Amino acid sequence: MGLLNVVPSVGVEDGPVTGSGLSKNGNFSYGYASSGGKRSSMEDFLDTRIDVVDGETVGLFGVFDGHGGARVAEYVKHNLFNNLIKHPKFSTDTKSAIVDAYRHTDSELLKIECNQSKDAGSTSSTAILMGRRLLVANVGDSRAVISRDGNAIAVTRDHKPNQSDERRRIEAAGGFVMWAGTWRVGGVLAVSRAFGDKLLKRYVIADPEIQEEVIDKSLEFLIIASDGLWDVVSNEEAVALIKPIENPENAAKKLMVEAFQKGSADNITCIVVSFLAERGDSSSSNQ
Ligand SMILES: *[C@@H]1O[C@H](CO)[C@@H](O)[C@H](O)[C@H]1NC(C)=O
Ligand SMILES: *[C@@H]1O[C@H](CO)[C@@H](O)[C@H](O)[C@H]1NC(C)=O
Ligand SMILES: *[C@@H]1O[C@H](CO)[C@@H](O)[C@H](O)[C@H]1NC(C)=O
Ligand SMILES: *[C@@H]1O[C@H](CO)[C@@H](O)[C@H](O)[C@H]1NC(C)=O
Repeated sequence: MGLLNVVPSVGVEDGPVTGSGLSKNGNFSYGYASSGGKRSSMEDFLDTRIDVVDGETVGLFGVFDGHGGARVAEYVKHNLFNNLIKHPKFSTDTKSAIVDAYRHTDSELLKIECNQSKDAGSTSSTAILMGRRLLVANVGDSRAVISRDGNAIAVTRDHKPNQSDERRRIEAAGGFVMWAGTWRVGGVLAVSRAFGDKLLKRYVIADPEIQEEVIDKSLEFLIIASDGLWDVVSNEEAVALIKPIENPENAAKKLMVEAFQKGSADNITCIVVSFLAERGDSSSSNQ
């Protein structure tokens, strides 16, 4: 609670947004914090959901960091998880369902983007929790990091235009990567994969990379955050900073405040999912 007072908010009505939740089966809890400031200038969005799909409790968490405006990030927030959970293979072949949902959401988005004169786009980093599986999928640079046995492990790879394979893919498609303050696709865009960005679509794809982790006793928590955090806080610092904090909403606030104090000028959004220790013993029986 005290933490919030540290955050320099632009106006009282535009303070940081925080929240929390707990899964019905008690296996995990989550919290989030998103920086304040003028609502109209905020380009980060997040989604947290707990749904029951085919009788199984599923947790869905996502951070969507917009560029060129907020509209694409907002679109992805409102559509990606809906498209995913209604995919016929969601339970049987979750990875294919994730890839399809990303592509389908992007192609539906491009249909309504066609009458926009200015390009806009968004990153997407999503975590799907089902049973003992944690599936993390991303496009762009909103990184996800887990703490396992106290170690910080990145479970997404930032899609930057100067990654050698990304650069090769872009050049093979006829594009180029150029230095303009940072490495940029076509000298314009600092991420190599994203939703939207219709003018750069041949190079800036919305195909996610997916990583799977086992949820067991050694898995403590997951952080998903926009680059407003990761530009100023390392993976290791983030994990060490929130390890002592039990409440994931307070943990997410702590990360946001730390980024502010380290001078992050960007929008900051953090989700923290805590895997509850009691759950570890339930693997052998149904109680
Ligand atoms: C969000 O980021 C945009 C673009 O960098 C910036 O203009 C705006 O002030 C930021 N807003 C908040 C609420 O942080
Ligand atoms: C075109 O723009 C309008 C408003 O600017 C929007 O409502 C509409 O969904 C857009 N797309 C299409 C295909 O008309
Ligand atoms: C989550 O809770 C359910 C019901 O209590 C249990 O059957 C299941 O094994 C738990 N999931 C994990 C990942 O342990
Ligand atoms: C990409 O460029 C950034 C500087 O913008 C640099 O820090 C990073 O190491 C580079 N990555 C690769 C894979 O070359």
